Amino acid sequence: MLHRAGHTARSLLSTVTSAALSTDYPTLHQHSIESSDEFWNQIATERIHWREPYQTISDCNFKAGKVNWFTGGKLNVSENLLDRHLVEHSDKAAILWERDEPGQHEIVTYKALHEMTCRIANVLNSHGVSKGDRVGVYLPMCPTAAAVMLACARIGAIHNVVFAGFSAEALGKRLEQSEAKVAFTADRAIRGGKLIPLKSIMDEAVKMAPSVQKVFVMDRTGAVELTSSKDVSLESEMAGASSECAPVVLDSEDPLFMLYTSGSTGAPKGLVHTQAGYLTYAGYTHQQIFDYKPDDVYACVADVGWITGHSYVVYGPLSNTATTVMFESTPNYPDPGRYWETVERLKINQFYGAPTAVRLLMKSSDSYVTKYDRSSLRTLGTVGEPINPKAWQWYFDVVGEGRCPVVDTWWQTETGGIMIAPRPGLDPNNLTNLKPGAAMRPFYGVDIALMSPDTKTRIEGNDVAGHLCIAQPTPGLARTVYGDHERYIKTYFADYPGYYFSGDGGYRDEDGHIWLTGRVDDVMNVSGHRLGTAEVEGVLVDHVAVAESAVVPRPHEIKGEGIFAYVILKESVDIDHDVLKKEMSDMISTRIGKFAKPEAIVICPNLPKTRSGKIMRRILTKLAAGEKDGFGDVSTCSDPSIVETLMPLVDAVI
Ligand code: PRX
Repeated sequence: MLHRAGHTARSLLSTVTSAALSTDYPTLHQHSIESSDEFWNQIATERIHWREPYQTISDCNFKAGKVNWFTGGKLNVSENLLDRHLVEHSDKAAILWERDEPGQHEIVTYKALHEMTCRIANVLNSHGVSKGDRVGVYLPMCPTAAAVMLACARIGAIHNVVFAGFSAEALGKRLEQSEAKVAFTADRAIRGGKLIPLKSIMDEAVKMAPSVQKVFVMDRTGAVELTSSKDVSLESEMAGASSECAPVVLDSEDPLFMLYTSGSTGAPKGLVHTQAGYLTYAGYTHQQIFDYKPDDVYACVADVGWITGHSYVVYGPLSNTATTVMFESTPNYPDPGRYWETVERLKINQFYGAPTAVRLLMKSSDSYVTKYDRSSLRTLGTVGEPINPKAWQWYFDVVGEGRCPVVDTWWQTETGGIMIAPRPGLDPNNLTNLKPGAAMRPFYGVDIALMSPDTKTRIEGNDVAGHLCIAQPTPGLARTVYGDHERYIKTYFADYPGYYFSGDGGYRDEDGHIWLTGRVDDVMNVSGHRLGTAEVEGVLVDHVAVAESAVVPRPHEIKGEGIFAYVILKESVDIDHDVLKKEMSDMISTRIGKFAKPEAIVICPNLPKTRSGKIMRRILTKLAAGEKDGFGDVSTCSDPSIVETLMPLVDAVI
């Protein structure tokens, strides 16, 4: 029986590089789990241009936190994304750059992107950057950002892109911790018509990061000022560099990039992704989940500062010779029709965005959507946070006219690519089978395990909930935390030995479909931005007036979650509370970024704690949500009356 299932799967595998039929999914998924090496061997062989074949398909052991794929193989990722396509597609648009200025886009062909990449790679070489060196990237959403990433890939340097909304201090820490040798920035970014002084932020950041020897400054708004001996004009350097640069041949498991993300404890960590496994996974998921077909115009409106921008703006689409849109603006600039005007003008086939933007846009009149022609759209995607059924339905009905499947994709910085989504396995002729708010089906090779936190065992069957784990290694998983492999093992592999633990909760419904139920650790999700409660608390307690703080998420109509902070002041403090709150909020903005500012700060005399002194966050979270009862067992609280004391203080700020 098993043999026959395997046999059928093998014949289906010949069609697996084109989108599989929904009826094929159960067989193929089962095969991909039971014969994982065989499955991924075929995908990697077909998708990647290897300079030298690999000797081992996978060498993994979750118990030991070891993940290696295609070991011994040699390749260059930028060659796979660019050079490989030049023979037949050199004049095809690789990037459509949707500039912030409304109504304007620029076309960058594969030939032009190859040339930009080679020039930047040569600039890096000429400044002594080579294989293994870290490169900080703090740039606006523009083709140069993609070319810088690919230039690093070309020479084996490790890019570390930092979202251009992070503050100087957050950037400085990331440059310092990664020991960046050089960094890239622009004079200014422009978003929603507003100018953001990237260069001055970089100037401050570099003071914290002595390893940075050069800062390459791109001209985005005509205001480049080279103020330090480290500063170099990127355009002048590129003009003087050759447009050819031979790709460095790298090992499958050499690092490709690192990207910082927040966890429940400690400072943000730099997850490291490697070459071949990541490329295979990003490219294959892009093709299958979005139903990408040659000549489609594909738009993921995420920023390259996040993993979504890495996997589904740059690496995945370019590996499929796609035309990928880079979106520099905001969803409501100059008005809430911006996305859909762009869809009409660029004839976008796949649109991938964030639930927070959907929730924002559905508040405006539908006419901002319907006045534009969206007939090109075939797939709508969401990522980064749960999408509530109401927002899902608006996206499906109004934006997609009821004919485009919404793929709600669950994944993480750590997984490198999408792990759960309705497609493949979706019947294109029966979209009523979609479930608003459910990510639904594990991708090929993804073995989702719901674990019991009490017994630490896997919960079988349907209509069950548990901690969401992954039972088998996939090629796109991050390999380590930069400079701290122990932390990687402890964070992801210690809670459930033999499993990767995501930090999320999951529910498998009666039909076997997966729903995400939110984080089970102290990580918040603000407009799809991941933030540890401890990170925000760390800033608050640095204020001279603050004795103690506790930060919890609070439901927010647009952002999904907003930040709610409780602080206890030191006894001697006698300053106006509004002044204090503003100071604290400004500190968070300076130390992390504006997006981390709390919705509300409550100054309180005490916090509910267990007798051993542990803050009872469960109670604080419920209070912040405006709940008046249902606090569960408060008998372990050292002083249950504090809950009553807090209620009016919370009510006063919400
Ligand atoms: O809690 C999950 C949530 O975002 C977290 C990962 O954040 P990050 O590493 O920044 O990556 C975001 C982009 C992939 C997850 O642990 N999350 C992501 N996608 C979904 C989601 N929660 C519910 N539904 C989703 N589709």
